[in-house]
Amino acid sequence: MKFLITAGPTREALDPARYISNRSSGRMGYALAGAARHEGHDVVLISGPTALDVPAGVDFVHVESAQQMYDAVRDLCKDADVAILCAAVADYRPVAYSGQKIKKTADRLIIELEKTPDILGSMRSTFGFGGVLVGFAAETSNLLEYGRDKLRRKQCNLIVANDVSRPDIGFDTRENEVTLIFPDREEVLEKDTKEHIALHIIEHAAALRP
Ligand code: PMT
Repeated sequence: MKFLITAGPTREALDPARYISNRSSGRMGYALAGAARHEGHDVVLISGPTALDVPAGVDFVHVESAQQMYDAVRDLCKDADVAILCAAVADYRPVAYSGQKIKKTADRLIIELEKTPDILGSMRSTFGFGGVLVGFAAETSNLLEYGRDKLRRKQCNLIVANDVSRPDIGFDTRENEVTLIFPDREEVLEKDTKEHIALHIIEHAAALRP
């Protein structure tokens, strides 16, 4: 099967020196790419900036911004049987980019932000993706309620929900604990290395293909 996987953070530039981003290390997404390859699948990994090595045998596309990730996913998802969107895409970006470094003159600086394009939300409606769609949900409360809401609104086959308020799992950690939210049931994958969690997610995602 052909897997498309997104990983890492995006960077939304303010000026040539500064950007808005988040704490994603890319480990969860890279573990998914490695696990899918290990299981014999073809994999394209679309990733924001990370310090990680690309797993062997995986096709790699580097992006910086949410818009670049949106464009890459739109162009490449047509070939995929399964798409797993694990990237921590910035939800907002600066409205204006300053070509010159912003000078430190004012005591207060107000930056206006606008929403970035919703990649997961575009998969069915705009990109016409017909394969197995797996989204992630990074929540700090109401994990099941918010995850189930995403599953429905974004027309996913599976949502992988993790509690990112915990310091031992989620962002920039070696381990994760997730709840798999299917339309008709839930399954908890107890705390384990991201590599082991990834293998289970890949097996579940592959089994969802008709
Ligand atoms: O990279 P690590 O350090 O290993 O950390 C892993 C992780 C915590 C980043 C990962 O497990 C995770 O939870 N990824 C999703 C992070 C996220 O942005 O969640 P969200 O609930 O805000 O977004 C929901 C879904 O919409 C995600 O599939 C996300 O990729 C997608 N999204 C979000 C915003 C946007 N503009 N477009 C999107 O497609």
